[in-house]
Amino acid sequence: SLPKEATIIEVGPRDGLQNEKNEVPTDVKLRFIRALQDAGIREMEVTSFVSPKWVPQMGDAAQIMDSVPRTGRQFVLAPNERGIENAKAAGADSIAVFVGVSDSFNKKNINRSTAESMEGLAPQIRQLKKDGLFVRACISTAFHCPFEGPVDPEKTLELCRQFAELGADELSVADTNGMADPAESYRLFSRLKEELPDLLITAHFHDTRKMALANILASLQAGVDRFDTSAGGLGGCPFSPGATGNVATEDVVYMLERMGVATGVSVDAVCRAVDEIAGTVSRPLASGMYTLHQNG
Ligand code: HMG
Ligand code: MG
Repeated sequence: SLPKEATIIEVGPRDGLQNEKNEVPTDVKLRFIRALQDAGIREMEVTSFVSPKWVPQMGDAAQIMDSVPRTGRQFVLAPNERGIENAKAAGADSIAVFVGVSDSFNKKNINRSTAESMEGLAPQIRQLKKDGLFVRACISTAFHCPFEGPVDPEKTLELCRQFAELGADELSVADTNGMADPAESYRLFSRLKEELPDLLITAHFHDTRKMALANILASLQAGVDRFDTSAGGLGGCPFSPGATGNVATEDVVYMLERMGVATGVSVDAVCRAVDEIAGTVSRPLASGMYTLHQNG
């Protein structure tokens, strides 16, 4: 049976904008974030404390944190000690660390092997937990790697177990390049729900091959009730070649609500939040529900 409720974790302001060609002014980002909160979003990745040389689009992380309304949970991404320090200094209480299962991807994204990243993050995560912060661990290339091809699910599970042992609160398990299929989504998420019952398990699907909604249905059937989505379907990792957006928030909310799974999020209000950013971004915003909204 399906869950009665599901949580939408909006990643548009972070995943959605980190790969954007145009410069999106900080005040436009803030209007987007506020409109998403008004739409009923309670958990959101608002920015990331990464190297501005690597990802200039997130260079205004501290300003975003200064002005973002503190309603619900605001996640900020941090790849290393420096990022975690900066995030804490900006007042963040929920930190999202990120590591790829695939070494080749992790090197392109963080300039470290997966093991090196984990070595660096382990004491950081223990300290964050001692300090009472919420730790979300984003697991990239959980299914496929743009450089290495299919990823062994046992390797993904092993990395997830390592984060569980370190005390992470949540795993966001990601199909970075939109190659997962519903059968493998069902298998991996069933194992995760069974083996790590004390962690929040979240599914993060990119929609490159238009399989994300099918993957979400399969994950729901495996017991997942938390989904990372991006308003307007924006997104993509700059270090995953050919990356495209996350599954669109408005399409996921529409599907879940139609199925009787309550999200507390308004499709119309999410579309109005997308209106705030549509004129600034270079990518076409062509989700099903946003297209209907634009056509009146
Ligand atoms: P590096 O060059 O190896 O870093 O990059 P370093 O430690 O050698 O430091 C080099 C310089 O960067 C130094 O400054 C550091 O102080 C500075 P300099 O002495 O040259 O002036 N530095 C920093 N500055 C600001 N914030 C920091 C920071 N760290 C070092 N945190 C590094 C290593 C990790 C910094 C770099 O590779 C990086 O920033 N990578 C981030 C990549 C990224 O943001 N990717 C997108 C997010 S992940 C994603 O999208 C996937 C996800 O959506 C799930 C999925 O779909 O798969 C989550
Ligand atoms: Mg992503």
